[in-house]
Amino acid sequence: MGIAILGTGGFVPANIVTNKDLETIVDTSDEWIVSRTGISERRIATVETSTEMAYNASQLALKEAGVSANELGLIICSTFTPEVLVPGTGNDVQKLLGANCAAFDLNAACSGFIFALHVAKKMFEGKPILVIGSEKLSKFIDWTDRNTCVLFGDGAGAVVIGTAKNATDSDILYSDIQSYPDTDLVLVVEGTNKIVEDKSESSHIVMNGTEVFKFATSVINESVNACLEKTGFTREEIKWIVPHQANIRIVKNASSKLGIPLEKFYMNIANTGNTSSASVPFALHEMNEKKLLNKGDLIILTAFGGGLSAATALIRW
Ligand code: ACO
Repeated sequence: MGIAILGTGGFVPANIVTNKDLETIVDTSDEWIVSRTGISERRIATVETSTEMAYNASQLALKEAGVSANELGLIICSTFTPEVLVPGTGNDVQKLLGANCAAFDLNAACSGFIFALHVAKKMFEGKPILVIGSEKLSKFIDWTDRNTCVLFGDGAGAVVIGTAKNATDSDILYSDIQSYPDTDLVLVVEGTNKIVEDKSESSHIVMNGTEVFKFATSVINESVNACLEKTGFTREEIKWIVPHQANIRIVKNASSKLGIPLEKFYMNIANTGNTSSASVPFALHEMNEKKLLNKGDLIILTAFGGGLSAATALIRW
């Protein structure tokens, strides 16, 4: 019996920040942002924390799964934007849910959710596992830097995995994670201890966008091709690809290099921006809510990000 995704959940803050809003704080334009990234608006947390967003997404995932918090065997939360370093965000979610299982955080930047899914699959011992991606990136945005402030948003996504009820149920058929040393420091967020020590909140996402773009377009291609080769499925058999939502141009490039039609790539970046490790589980939840996913669909999840990191999973819905 396989390991099924029993439920999905997602949460984004209510506060919408449009490209027009950003035009009032940095020298940019709606036209530049849409044409270079595909982003029209993003959600920016006002009062919500990474923990609260993770908790809200988790509650929905548990509800759909029909799993109560005390049935969970493990909670893994992917985040690099926690409220505090200790306790971990996963531990705080455990507390809010009233769960009594082990909980820990994992940081693989934007690839973190698929890393967490990979780890969950390896650690699965029969009890359901809650896997979360939650990010409050707005805390680490330099709102005077037009190169980065237009790109990111806040949000959370979660899934509950557990034993498939029968052999034809959904399954995590494949997962693979990779890391590549970031020797040129193309994507860095300085230590959160700096924030704790001087309370200046001066730690920001610093990115060489062009280099990250080159890395992303080449690694998505390699990672998805490896998934297809190792599992033996054809491009035609794949119903959906849920990519990390970083830039529509990265996805268009991947679509053309992989020879997989763009329509198969689910995109919601226009309304969310890049929510790092929340982007893939939030997109999956949105697809689930919109009833786009049918039993038996083969779905590739793929992400890339800081570290540098890349990860791909293949699930049967
Ligand atoms: N508005 C207007 N102009 C801008 C803006 C802006 N918001 N930002 C940059 N520009 C200007 C630049 O200053 C530059 O001007 P110049 O030619 O006078 O110097 C010009 O636009 C072109 O800049 P580029 O950086 O070459 O623009 P590019 O087309 O490469 O797009 C972008 C930049 C969107 C960042 C792109 O490189 C990208 O998406 N990179 C990948 C980012 C990514 O995927 N990150 C994911 C990982 S994030 C994580 O893991 C946390």
